[in-house]
Amino acid sequence: MHRIAVLTSGGDSPGMNPAIRAVTRTALHAGCEVFGVYRGYAGLIQNDMRRLEYKDVGGIIQRGGTMLLTARSPEFMTPAGREKAMENLRWHGIEGLVVIGGDGSLRGAAALTAEHGLPTICLPGTIDNDMYGTDMSIGADTALNTVLEAIDKIKDTASSHQRAFIIETMGRHSGYLALMGGLAGGAEAILIPEIPDTTIEDVVEVIKRSFRKGKTNCVIVAAEGAHLNAQTIQDQINQIDAEESGFSFSFRTRATILGHIQRGGSPSAFDRTLATRLGSGAVEFLLSGKNGGLVGMQSRKLTVTPYDEVLANPKVLDAKLYELSKILDRY
Ligand code: F6P
Repeated sequence: MHRIAVLTSGGDSPGMNPAIRAVTRTALHAGCEVFGVYRGYAGLIQNDMRRLEYKDVGGIIQRGGTMLLTARSPEFMTPAGREKAMENLRWHGIEGLVVIGGDGSLRGAAALTAEHGLPTICLPGTIDNDMYGTDMSIGADTALNTVLEAIDKIKDTASSHQRAFIIETMGRHSGYLALMGGLAGGAEAILIPEIPDTTIEDVVEVIKRSFRKGKTNCVIVAAEGAHLNAQTIQDQINQIDAEESGFSFSFRTRATILGHIQRGGSPSAFDRTLATRLGSGAVEFLLSGKNGGLVGMQSRKLTVTPYDEVLANPKVLDAKLYELSKILDRY
């Protein structure tokens, strides 16, 4: 294999740049030519790619986002779109493709390999940390630290005003950021899509209890995709008046939606090293003929998990940590 391409696709994550750098430089070191594809699969369809040399990926290791840009491409989801993409890859003589992204990106790579026989390999790039086949995905650690910084700051103002705060993290289908952020931030309650067992009554009770115990703040962390959203919780809590709750003061609540701030920022040391090891490993696997899977780090070892296996197995959140958060913070 002498010519490979690399692209980033779907939602960006901090660490995609160090991954591009590692892929490019490892491949150049092995004597390959490298093409960077811009705007993910959309760029593949529009033939938007150019050669990357050693210096082209310089100065990006500390940058959030992705220098190759990213997109979600509905056209690539169709066989005709993938045929167009394949024509462009053939035209450039590209023999292997490295894809950095989440589940949707992996599905795209799997389809290219299955329909056209193109060797592809994927790196897990998503802040949601919801991909089977790796302990951590690139970007999740940086995003978690962003969440934690926000929780700490909100606690300061919450204490000054004796308020309860609902903090919404990203994660449409994944409770990873909410669970780990809530655990590390000492939240009084955590709501995640994977374990929808907390009712609005539970949340209200947790808040009442916190204030009765003399706490000056109360933090509820809810994932974007949780069964109760931040606004619903806020509305309910604001209906509790001082008399009913038994406090000497009337307390109100605020909801803070952290949003896309979680996707940006300089990648943490953990994400940079993970991205570097996975990126370099992906090229080595590809060049040695091992492809058609997700490169991950599991129990500190580089692994390749076949696409079928990744797609058939949802990543399981550690339910014990959820229980632990209840023991430590709710009561
Ligand atoms: O990157 C993953 C993710 O952050 C999800 O948690 C979230 O639901 C989604 O991206 C939102 O992405 P966008 O706003 O780009 O559609």
